[in-house]
Amino acid sequence: MRFLLLLSPVYLVVANSSSSMQQPLCHGSERSALLQFKQSFLIDEHVSDNPFAYPKVAKWKSHREGEGEVGSDCCSWDGVECDRETGHVISLHLASSCLSGLVHLRRLDLSDNDFNYSEIPFGVCQLSRLRSLDLSYAGFSGQISSELLALSKLVFLDLSANPIVQLQKPGLRNLVQNLTHLKGTHLSQVNISSTIPHTWANLSSLTSLFLKECGLHGEFPMTIFRLPSLQYLSVRYNPDLIGYLPEFQETRTLKMLYLGGTSFSGLASCNLTEFPDLQNQNELEILILTENKIHGPIPKWVLNISKETLGVLDLSGNFLTGFDQPPVVLPWSRLQSLQLDSNMLQGPLPIPPPSTFEYSVSGNKLTGEILPLICNMSSLMLLDLSSNNLSGRIPQGLANFPIPLIQFSIWKSTALMAPFLKHVQCQKNLRVIDLGENQFQGQIPRSFAKCMMLKHLVLGNNQIDHGFLSGLELSHSYRFLF
Ligand SMILES: *[C@@H]1O[C@H](CO)[C@@H](O)[C@H](O)[C@H]1NC(C)=O
Ligand SMILES: *[C@@H]1O[C@H](CO)[C@@H](O)[C@H](O)[C@H]1NC(C)=O
Ligand SMILES: *[C@@H]1O[C@H](CO)[C@@H](O)[C@H](O)[C@H]1NC(C)=O
Ligand SMILES: *[C@@H]1O[C@H](CO)[C@@H](O)[C@H](O)[C@H]1NC(C)=O
Ligand SMILES: *[C@@H]1O[C@H](CO)[C@@H](O)[C@H](O)[C@H]1NC(C)=O
Ligand SMILES: *[C@@H]1O[C@H](CO)[C@@H](O)[C@H](O)[C@H]1NC(C)=O
Ligand SMILES: *[C@@H]1O[C@H](CO)[C@@H](O)[C@H](O)[C@H]1NC(C)=O
Ligand SMILES: *[C@@H]1O[C@H](CO)[C@@H](O)[C@H](O)[C@H]1NC(C)=O
Ligand SMILES: *[C@@H]1O[C@H](CO)[C@@H](O)[C@H](O)[C@H]1NC(C)=O
Repeated sequence: MRFLLLLSPVYLVVANSSSSMQQPLCHGSERSALLQFKQSFLIDEHVSDNPFAYPKVAKWKSHREGEGEVGSDCCSWDGVECDRETGHVISLHLASSCLSGLVHLRRLDLSDNDFNYSEIPFGVCQLSRLRSLDLSYAGFSGQISSELLALSKLVFLDLSANPIVQLQKPGLRNLVQNLTHLKGTHLSQVNISSTIPHTWANLSSLTSLFLKECGLHGEFPMTIFRLPSLQYLSVRYNPDLIGYLPEFQETRTLKMLYLGGTSFSGLASCNLTEFPDLQNQNELEILILTENKIHGPIPKWVLNISKETLGVLDLSGNFLTGFDQPPVVLPWSRLQSLQLDSNMLQGPLPIPPPSTFEYSVSGNKLTGEILPLICNMSSLMLLDLSSNNLSGRIPQGLANFPIPLIQFSIWKSTALMAPFLKHVQCQKNLRVIDLGENQFQGQIPRSFAKCMMLKHLVLGNNQIDHGFLSGLELSHSYRFLF
């Protein structure tokens, strides 16, 4: 392939095209951008096999070298199309233009565009100095060309969120062979549909590897965990990817580990206690092990993760039975999100630190009262304690719904009691209240009528008198589920 196709699909689709007005001159800033762009090419008349090819950009000239206004109006330049009303450059038609390479280009970022499922415009084999290529969120499709492999200086590659792009032939194996300087490799939501070759562990500079939802299968190579610079790793939503948590002695660099929605497990017994070396991961910021098959108690080392760093802990969807000797308040002073839903947690409700704004522990077997300490979470926006076996009174501070709270769910907690309802005060942020299947009694406070943002109120299967609600003229849409 000798045509430089790189630019052919870069169109802006523009609605305003017909106009009887005289077309305005091009904008100065766009003219200089085009001239700069021109500088980055070499012109080579032999580059194309097309007999009609000619160097279109050769006549692009700045004001001084051109012949007055007309010569410098970039809208009149070969290959350039401007909007008739605004004078903005809307298309560049540079196919067969004798461009031999963007030889100086180091960084190409076409992310966040809509290329309408066109193929990725390679022909970039000429871009031999490219260090950074970002084509994420751009609506490309098709199999990636093997010309990508010629970009041997590439340090950062982002093709993510182009779900019908395929990286199969070439695939992951070829990337490692040829792009040996990669540090950031972001391929989430690209159709890779293969195993992850062990040779990825040869990329000693790798700092981030994002392979979310890539159709990966087979066994994740443990050696990747040992990469000396690896900080961010995500392989989530690859349900057929098998893996085991690693021996971490050689690396303490990991900051983010996303393994949710995979078939990662522990060793044969799927027992977190048997991931001894994860204990050394004291600097974790994010630990997400959702929907795996991890059994047994949450071991002590989890509580030992640095309280200065941990911000997100998500262990939901496993078979965990609870913290082993938990402190009254969990230790991580920067924790923002704690998700422990759908496990088999027993014992008292763990209380997250005050920094937490999202706490969800539904679908467990927690017992006992809700300690008033829970009200110290002054940033709390989402609280879901549903489907447990909690009892006793809901602490007063919680019944007042602290201001940031948006969602409050304690559906089917079996034995939670009023006088909770007497004290309900509806704060302005509250959108969801779900109190169904408990033992609340009494009347719904009239203050509920002032909850203008409330969209979802569930009170069913309690002993609540909600008769007065039918007399209220509610201008907003409650969704009552009784
Ligand atoms: C199209 O025309 C409308 C009004 O005439 C204007 O607001 C809009 O910015 C134009 N769009 C473009 C892409 O020039
Ligand atoms: C996108 O591509 C389809 C099929 O090639 C075409 O019909 C459609 O007009 C294109 N849309 C735009 C906005 O160019
Ligand atoms: C990729 O690397 C292999 C061997 O490592 C080499 O033979 C091949 O030419 C390279 N491909 C490109 C496109 O540079
Ligand atoms: C990767 O490293 C292994 C040793 O760990 C070596 O045998 C192999 O040749 C390397 N592969 C490549 C493609 O560099
Ligand atoms: C991924 O590509 C393969 C072809 O190699 C295809 O069979 C499969 O359906 C694709 N997967 C998705 C989710 O598009
Ligand atoms: C998990 O492993 C530890 C250490 O081997 C063992 O003591 C414990 O009983 C195991 N738990 C389960 C649920 O298998
Ligand atoms: C917790 O951390 C301390 C200090 O880093 C260490 O001595 C101890 O062994 C760790 N405990 C567990 C269970 O990881
Ligand atoms: C909870 O908040 C109260 C009052 O703001 C404070 O006195 C107490 O120390 C806090 N407790 C914890 C464990 O943070
Ligand atoms: C709920 O907890 C109580 C004790 O507080 C216990 O008697 C009861 O069996 C538990 N129910 C379930 C379904 O676990």
